[in-house]
Amino acid sequence: MESIEKKVILIASLFVLGMAVLLAYSIFGLNIRLPGCVTTVQPFTKGEVIKKTDTLYEVHMVAKMWAFEPLQIQVKPGTTVDFYLTSLDVNHGFDIEKTNINLMAVPGVINYGRFTFNEPGVYHFVCHEFCGFGHQNMAGTVVVSGGESEIPVEPVKVPLAGLALDGKKLFETKGCVACHSVEGNPGVGPAFKGLFGRKEKMSTGLVINVDEAYIAESIKEPSAKIVNGFQPLMPKLPVTDDEVKRITEYLKTL
Ligand code: CUA
Repeated sequence: MESIEKKVILIASLFVLGMAVLLAYSIFGLNIRLPGCVTTVQPFTKGEVIKKTDTLYEVHMVAKMWAFEPLQIQVKPGTTVDFYLTSLDVNHGFDIEKTNINLMAVPGVINYGRFTFNEPGVYHFVCHEFCGFGHQNMAGTVVVSGGESEIPVEPVKVPLAGLALDGKKLFETKGCVACHSVEGNPGVGPAFKGLFGRKEKMSTGLVINVDEAYIAESIKEPSAKIVNGFQPLMPKLPVTDDEVKRITEYLKTL
């Protein structure tokens, strides 16, 4: 055999050997495993945290405009979490700081990542794919605490999304805010904090339950029912049924 051929074979063999060594190192040294292709998790539309064992959790994470569900996950140090991720509308991102979890949320697709949270602390996660108007609202936390390392957990404020967010804008641009406070203090009209589901006494003495039908009627026919102690001053506003629905969704969040 020509010496040049021997050289080529030798070099090629060295490459193959090098590959095998690196492969063995990644499996046994770095503990990297190829993920299985098929997940047994069924398509889901609801966010869920499922405790499998004391140290193994399964999270079904739903991304949608513009929030994650669940927004907060709490586990003890040493817990392994399997994240299954999907989107209900457009493409979103899902990135948990200080971990290897960096996934895309794609409608109709379930993506998967696993991480073991050994270090106590708060791990923030965000959507890192620009997904529209409320993109910057898409954030949540994994709180790792328990045992020796109790970390006080602050409740997460749910960001407004979709219809409710549109409703808030309508509430402001249509002028509702001028008379209706969204805090506790009544103005010209009743205050709307805690409005949905509460009992309201009418000027006729009738007590009604504030539901979708009542809110729709109050927007479209303001003088049909007047809350006790207030004057029938509200003008009829030009609103479509669709806008009423959006405003109602917003009022529900107060
Ligand atoms: Cu979802 Cu950006």
